[in-house]
Amino acid sequence: MNIFLIGFMGSGKSTAGKKLATKLKMQFIDLDSIMELETNTTIHELFNARGENAFREIEHATLKKVVASTNNAVIATGGGTPCFFQNMDFMNANGVTVYLEMHPGSIYYRLARSKADRPLISGKTDAALMEYIIETLETREPVYLKAKHIVKGESLNIAGLAEKIIS
Ligand code: S3P
Repeated sequence: MNIFLIGFMGSGKSTAGKKLATKLKMQFIDLDSIMELETNTTIHELFNARGENAFREIEHATLKKVVASTNNAVIATGGGTPCFFQNMDFMNANGVTVYLEMHPGSIYYRLARSKADRPLISGKTDAALMEYIIETLETREPVYLKAKHIVKGESLNIAGLAEKIIS
């Protein structure tokens, strides 16, 4: 069984994914890291050099490749992954999806410190970042809410989540 962690940028998918994988004795896979390895570049450079459309195609292809190669992993996806090419339906059909739901204010607090690493928000002023989070979350949330499990990112309990998934 694969477990897909989904949620907005900065919601803690990778950190939670690593802990969950350890708890469940499963492999941990970070989709962005696999893309970086396979394209031999960074997500930021990929966006800059090829543009978002190409990035989404590579992301979709990488997701399918990862799923074809493993059936026992916790997979942290990118914030936009579920929202393109029916990736959300694909993940729901191929494993258990978990949405790390987080309040826009908490996302802002976490992203304000790491803007530079993220192509979609680097260069934004604080006010523009907050506006981007609110607007983008509004369009993405209906997709995120198709997840099998929805947990609060701010008060995440890994043992509780592991129990929930297993039962
Ligand atoms: C993106 C989120 C990023 C990365 C890319 C695009 C998005 O992943 O895939 O910068 O569209 O929200 P994280 O959610 O891991 O930061």
